[in-house]
Amino acid sequence: MQVKITFAAPKMPRTGAVAVGVLDGRKLSPSAETLDKAAGGTLSRAVKQGRFTGKKGQILDLVAPGGLRNSRVLLVGLGKTKDLKDLDLENLGGSVAARMGATGEPGVTLMVDALEGAAHESAERAVRYALGARLRAYRFDKYKTKEKPADKPGLKSVTVMVANPAAAKRAFAAHEKVAEGVAFTRDLVSEPANVIFPKSLVAEAKKLVKLGVTVQVLGEREMRRLGMGALLGVGQGSARESQLLVMQWKGAGAARGKKAGPIAFVGKGVTFDTGGISIKPAGGMEDMKWDMGGAGVVTGLMRALAGRKAKVNAVGICALAENMPSSSAQRPGDIVTSMSGQTIEVINTDAEGRLVLADALWYVQEKFKPSAIVDLATLTGAIIVALGHDYAGLFSNNDKLSDQLTAAGKSVGEPVWRMPLAAPGESYDKAINSQAADMKNVGNRAGGSITAAQFLQRFVKKGTPWAHLDIAGTTWSSKDTPTVPKGGTGFGVRLLDRWVADHHEK
Ligand code: BES
Ligand code: MN
Ligand code: ZN
Repeated sequence: MQVKITFAAPKMPRTGAVAVGVLDGRKLSPSAETLDKAAGGTLSRAVKQGRFTGKKGQILDLVAPGGLRNSRVLLVGLGKTKDLKDLDLENLGGSVAARMGATGEPGVTLMVDALEGAAHESAERAVRYALGARLRAYRFDKYKTKEKPADKPGLKSVTVMVANPAAAKRAFAAHEKVAEGVAFTRDLVSEPANVIFPKSLVAEAKKLVKLGVTVQVLGEREMRRLGMGALLGVGQGSARESQLLVMQWKGAGAARGKKAGPIAFVGKGVTFDTGGISIKPAGGMEDMKWDMGGAGVVTGLMRALAGRKAKVNAVGICALAENMPSSSAQRPGDIVTSMSGQTIEVINTDAEGRLVLADALWYVQEKFKPSAIVDLATLTGAIIVALGHDYAGLFSNNDKLSDQLTAAGKSVGEPVWRMPLAAPGESYDKAINSQAADMKNVGNRAGGSITAAQFLQRFVKKGTPWAHLDIAGTTWSSKDTPTVPKGGTGFGVRLLDRWVADHHEK
């Protein structure tokens, strides 16, 4: 269940939980002052105790404060008003939602005051708080059958009180669609592999048709006809049929589409990665249910773009396959022919993501002549070694695209860090030359994320701006952050939505 967000004109709630701001130096905001008066000074006495100073992100939780009938008053540190950025505001909204969820309050009212010297109007701040709360209040609990719906932890409603609720509501509408895209991605990533496999992921994507997204699907027969030997080889050991999912959103109209091709998003959708015959160790293998994270982002992004009616022509392609060992599985040493005609020696069947992407990348270029391509993939464990879990790896043949994505990621709190990519024929690229075929699917251990990106680059036509995001470290999180509860993060949806908004809708 999604938390319900309402904007309303300020009226101090007499009951329930209410959150008010405190500025750096223990200075009460106007709403906090009002409450303090009603409570006979309880709030101002409370902020004088202990370490709470009103620093950005601090929360002081007053339970049943004397003189009020409210169940709680949350004093939320805003820090110095002029320092508050979009992300800070989202984080504050998220932290309040998390605190309320943990305490079992079903709802909370946020009082948003006009603040002197703030970079944002109060309506804008209200929107950011609401977005943060919505993103953080996400839960994936459908399989927890012993929690009755009423007892499920988690916040049910947030009321944001602000002088201009109509303006806030209008501005929130597009953000809400993006948050829905993020939640959709998190759902897809969180579902186990017995529920989300190639055909069932396609069925989920078909739900976007009612938003105006065109959904087409290629099955194994069609892919064989197109010569997609690399993708098909990965799925050949599985009882589940591989699929190529093609989603189109034509929000810019035909005129723009004629001038320049659409922008394309390509996602790795390995719905479970056992490693295949080069099988993975048992410990932690359950994580490989989220090896379709790239496809999850592409699908959630299409939902966000269509939901907010983005003025862009975008195509989203998901390369869907299950990597299983069986008597029909691909073997190490097999040589497959990709749709591009290039042959690949499969040294390690666990380096399967690049194989499914090779054919998806080639297909999208042949079919759509895109003006730019961004692919997303939980591609390598090596990117986790290099960057940990905060930054995704960015590889690109284009500095401008690379800078745009870096800036977009920074502004939404989904940061990417650029990694090296060599020109064809240079050292990193040569690492995947094969004795027997045009290339092999692994280099040596060193620079594993880079050689994976070099492999993908061999399937990108010269002159096409392309970026590859290795999201293996950021797709799943083992700890809560203010706007992202642990589990599937949806990392990439907000980044690419922002990139589209900033560079492809003008
Ligand atoms: N899906 C994995 C990468 C991965 C690892 C994602 C851990 C998330 C967490 C990918 O298919 C894989 O197995 N990569 C191998 C490549 C190697 C065989 C060259 C890896 O990273 O070990
Ligand atoms: Mn693998
Ligand atoms: Zn994989």
